[in-house]
Amino acid sequence: MEFRYIGRSGLRVSVIGLGTMTFGSMTSKEEAFRILDLAYERGVNFIDTAELYPVPPDSSWAGVSEEIVGEWLSTKPRESVILATKVAGGASGWFVPPIRYGLTAMDRFHIKRAVEGSLKRLKTDYIDLYQMHWPDRVVPIEETLEAFDELVREGKVRYIGTSNDTAYGLTQATMVAQYRGMARFESIQNNFSLLNPRFFDELEEVCRRERISLLPYSPLGGGILSGKYNRSPAPQDARFTLYRTHPNKRVREHAKRFYNEKTLKMTEEFLELAREVGIDPVTLAVAYSKEFDFVASTIVGARKLDQLPPSLDSADLKLDREIMKRIAKLQRKYCYPMG
Ligand SMILES: NC(=O)c1ccc[n+]([C@@H]2O[C@H](COP(=O)([O-])OP(=O)(O)OC[C@H]3O[C@@H](n4cnc5c(N)ncnc54)[C@H](OP(=O)(O)O)[C@@H]3O)[C@@H](O)[C@H]2O)c1
Repeated sequence: MEFRYIGRSGLRVSVIGLGTMTFGSMTSKEEAFRILDLAYERGVNFIDTAELYPVPPDSSWAGVSEEIVGEWLSTKPRESVILATKVAGGASGWFVPPIRYGLTAMDRFHIKRAVEGSLKRLKTDYIDLYQMHWPDRVVPIEETLEAFDELVREGKVRYIGTSNDTAYGLTQATMVAQYRGMARFESIQNNFSLLNPRFFDELEEVCRRERISLLPYSPLGGGILSGKYNRSPAPQDARFTLYRTHPNKRVREHAKRFYNEKTLKMTEEFLELAREVGIDPVTLAVAYSKEFDFVASTIVGARKLDQLPPSLDSADLKLDREIMKRIAKLQRKYCYPMG
């Protein structure tokens, strides 16, 4: 397993990280333990969760993923794992989370409440990387960063990061932290895959110049790049099959971003490329993001244990320039299939 540093922090993480957002909803606790054990045995030291998980977000199970991770973590030496979690962002934007009565905000009150809840569920006295799940454009970033900075000084959090933010948000936060002498975001966790190269538009420059790492999530496009939705009939128990008929409209809309005519067409050609070069499409899709030096750890997901090995196999795979060129050509042809 290769390890890389997150930003300018002391966090040295495996190039493949494990996401946990199905733990407690689509993945049982027992299966989650098996997945965590296998990842750990294969050298994964970076685990990502959130106070809001599992998905789809629901008040009946919010927090359960952290509880499962916390229980598993207590069976391992704490310092052998780099643990990342997230505080839900502002309820003022595109999403009102089903926690804290839908009143979440990136203010001091909510950040302090959230961290105490996460520490308790995770059964630990510190979080290695504490991330803002999505930005809050109402509360001034100064207040958000001051609250985070206090957590770092108190030793509850080692480093901070952000997620689902834009070049505007990341640049502004970085400048404020720098001029005020506060802890800064060392990472940004955004959607990044063969199907979604949006990061290159603006964020790449910010990350390179400021030495902030990208932690890509959904490297398989949530399962699309495995090719299973291109087969007929589509898998009955898979995420987007469930999301497409979900009673919540927002969940159905979310599915469309990943599962649409353009992503399926691009996947068809990607599968052909994988066949030609003799690499499992899951392994190839995850390996793609490792090729970029601004990426620290790519966060993969597995709903079932048998899905994980091909993602982990990407750790040992180096893609040659010819394959990267062919992927870039596909991306130009399909031009932002996820919008
Ligand atoms: N910051 C954020 O807002 C944010 C958003 C999304 C994710 N994340 C993080 O990133 C992690 C990973 O996200 P993700 O689950 O979307 O990543 P992903 O690796 O793109 O997708 C994982 C899903 O693909 C399917 N899959 C995986 N391996 C497969 C295989 N070998 N064959 C067929 N299907 C396979 C499984 O779903 P099915 O079996 O149901 O198809 C699995 O749950 C999350 O757990 C979370 O920690 C963060």
